[in-house]
Amino acid sequence: MKKLKNELFVYFTVPSIIGLILLYVAIIAFFNYEYRTIVLNRFKDRIPIFKEHIFKNYTNMHNKDRMSMRHHMRMRNNMPDMRGRIPYMAFKIYDKNGKIIHSEPPFFDQKEYIKINENRVMNEEKNKYLNLYIKRNRIYSKREKDFLKILFIYSSILLIFLIGIFFYIANKFSNNILNFFMKMKEKFFCIAKGNYDIKIENKYEEFEPFKSGVEDMASLLKKEEERRKDFITNISHDIKTPISIIKANIEGILDDVLKDSKENMKLILQEVDKLENFIKRIKYFDLTEKKEKEWINIKKDLKKYKEKYKNLMEIRLSMSQNFVVKFNRNDFETIFDNLLSNAYKYNEKQAKKCMIKIQKQENRLIIRVIDNGKGIKEENKKLIFEKFYKQDKSRTDRHSMGLGLAIVKKIVNQYEGYIDVKSKEGFYTAIKIVLRNLDYK
Ligand SMILES: Nc1ncnc2c1ncn2[C@@H]1O[C@H](COP(=O)(O)OP(=O)(O)OP(=O)(O)O)[C@@H](O)[C@H]1O
Ligand SMILES: [Mg+2]
Repeated sequence: MKKLKNELFVYFTVPSIIGLILLYVAIIAFFNYEYRTIVLNRFKDRIPIFKEHIFKNYTNMHNKDRMSMRHHMRMRNNMPDMRGRIPYMAFKIYDKNGKIIHSEPPFFDQKEYIKINENRVMNEEKNKYLNLYIKRNRIYSKREKDFLKILFIYSSILLIFLIGIFFYIANKFSNNILNFFMKMKEKFFCIAKGNYDIKIENKYEEFEPFKSGVEDMASLLKKEEERRKDFITNISHDIKTPISIIKANIEGILDDVLKDSKENMKLILQEVDKLENFIKRIKYFDLTEKKEKEWINIKKDLKKYKEKYKNLMEIRLSMSQNFVVKFNRNDFETIFDNLLSNAYKYNEKQAKKCMIKIQKQENRLIIRVIDNGKGIKEENKKLIFEKFYKQDKSRTDRHSMGLGLAIVKKIVNQYEGYIDVKSKEGFYTAIKIVLRNLDYK
């Protein structure tokens, strides 16, 4: 397994250090070149002096003197201004046809020397000319060599120092990135422990989506947790109420305070039904249950609801044609039980109305339940399908658990469909369900 820190470190430092070294080499080379040009130019400035000296003195010397001059000084002492500086100069004198007349030293390897005159240096009569050379390794004086050495040492120290700084910065940079993930890890741990109020510090734009994703996740989990807490508070209250009614009735019967009448038994049964209903709804989220399908005549089945809400709400059914569709009966009833109970519950108008519209488009079955109730706030539309969500938390209605639409959504998903809501506060709510791949008769 690779270590991110090492990789970041290498990616950041290697190119920078290679760049730094190349820069260093280029600077040193440039500096050497420039310095050498300056030094060589100094010789060029003296070409007239050399010329005069060589043409006047050397060419007129006897061979013997030349020998001694060569032998002793290699021109050193005879060269004004060059004393102690460059013992190794060389020259060649040519006649006008380019034939060598003199060479000093007589035989020298031209590769070891640099020519310092660009153009031919002619004598007065212009019948002879001269090329001047200097030995490559004698361009610099000792002082100049020392200077170059010191320059090299100091610039190398600077290079090492800069590489050190690069290492430091690269290390810090990779640590910064890793720190972000370490902090993330801590935050995940906080979330896992149920502390959802997290704020992640981040200074990199690229990590922003990741950071806000985690923060959003935490706030969603927080909401979910709050709803779950609400649910537990409500459900314990909801369960306690029927249980205490049942208990009081049974105790009353046992203590002969209440009559063991059918009337009381009915009351107990009613409360037991309520409990059973609660359990059924909670159990709905268990998907492992196998569901049997049967043919359902929609029009016939929906008539039951008209009957049920007869005195409470006016229900109108709009269907272009009747459909017999294969569906799980329990699912079918759960969908309409929930949608119609909502249409009734969340309607404060005197004349409560509800319209059930059913259409078939190709293989899709579209169900709409539209009421003239109090509607849903824009910002809550997305939330109503979440389990345990209730728009009005203060509702004491013990049938309200915030589970109805979540259950409906779950069913709809099982039939490869979707659920949607349109609503205007104070006017209407329209729940639309689209179901796909159903069998019809
Ligand atoms: N037809 C509607 N008109 C206005 N608000 C609605 C309507 N249907 C749902 N809501 C809002 O959406 C919330 C969630 O509805 P849902 O049916 O999931 O839960 P519930 O009715 O509160 O409880 P339950 O259905 O479990 O008894 C409701 O509390 C209500 O605020
Ligand atoms: Mg409901």
